[in-house]
Amino acid sequence: MNISLKSALPEDVLALQLIARQTFRDTFLEHNTEENINDYFITKLSVEKLTAELLDHNSRFFFAVIDGNIVGYLKVNFGPAQTELQDSNGLEIERIYITKEYQGKKVAPVLFEKALSVAREAALKYVWLGVWEENKRAIKFYEKNGFKVFDTHVFTLGNEQQTDYLMKLAL
Ligand SMILES: CC(C)(COP(=O)(O)OP(=O)(O)OC[C@H]1O[C@@H](n2cnc3c(N)ncnc32)[C@H](O)[C@@H]1OP(=O)(O)O)[C@@H](O)C(=O)NCCC(=O)NCCS
Repeated sequence: MNISLKSALPEDVLALQLIARQTFRDTFLEHNTEENINDYFITKLSVEKLTAELLDHNSRFFFAVIDGNIVGYLKVNFGPAQTELQDSNGLEIERIYITKEYQGKKVAPVLFEKALSVAREAALKYVWLGVWEENKRAIKFYEKNGFKVFDTHVFTLGNEQQTDYLMKLAL
């Protein structure tokens, strides 16, 4: 299986919106209402919001591509674009999402290694992320890649408050 990476550019916004909405729904529908998912689509995954993020020099998006199909994506944030901490020594993995079909099939390590190489190229000291405490699969993935919980924060999805673990990996 040949997995390639492609940087997402502003003209890729519709492809980004498609994979972002599909993977978000697949991940969270089981534990959340349709209304809260739609609220997230409107506030966080609109064309306007995603275009602004694609244009932000402190964020980078990458698609994982297999046989010409986008099967996952990564979003990383530097400095002021980080959703918390905003430390110039850190890189946030804000999103790493793979379609259900390709989970457990070595796509995640390719995107994850890309995040690490982006951080190393920028001579950063650590990579961090926030993950919902009930997202056991993602937590396991991060733990097996060396991340450790260092804090928690509250994440609002529609009208619900959920707890995220903040996890960090020193480089
Ligand atoms: C998180 C994600 C990127 C990890 O990629 P992946 O290909 O699934 O990762 P892997 O299969 O290599 O690792 C997951 C591990 O969790 C295990 N796992 C699977 N389901 C699990 C569950 N319900 N509870 C605990 N562990 C679980 C797997 O067995 C595997 O461990 P192993 O390698 O020791 O067998 C991917 O699952 C994904 O895109 N999920 C949906 C989006 C998401 O949640 N993103 C993260 C938001 S913070």
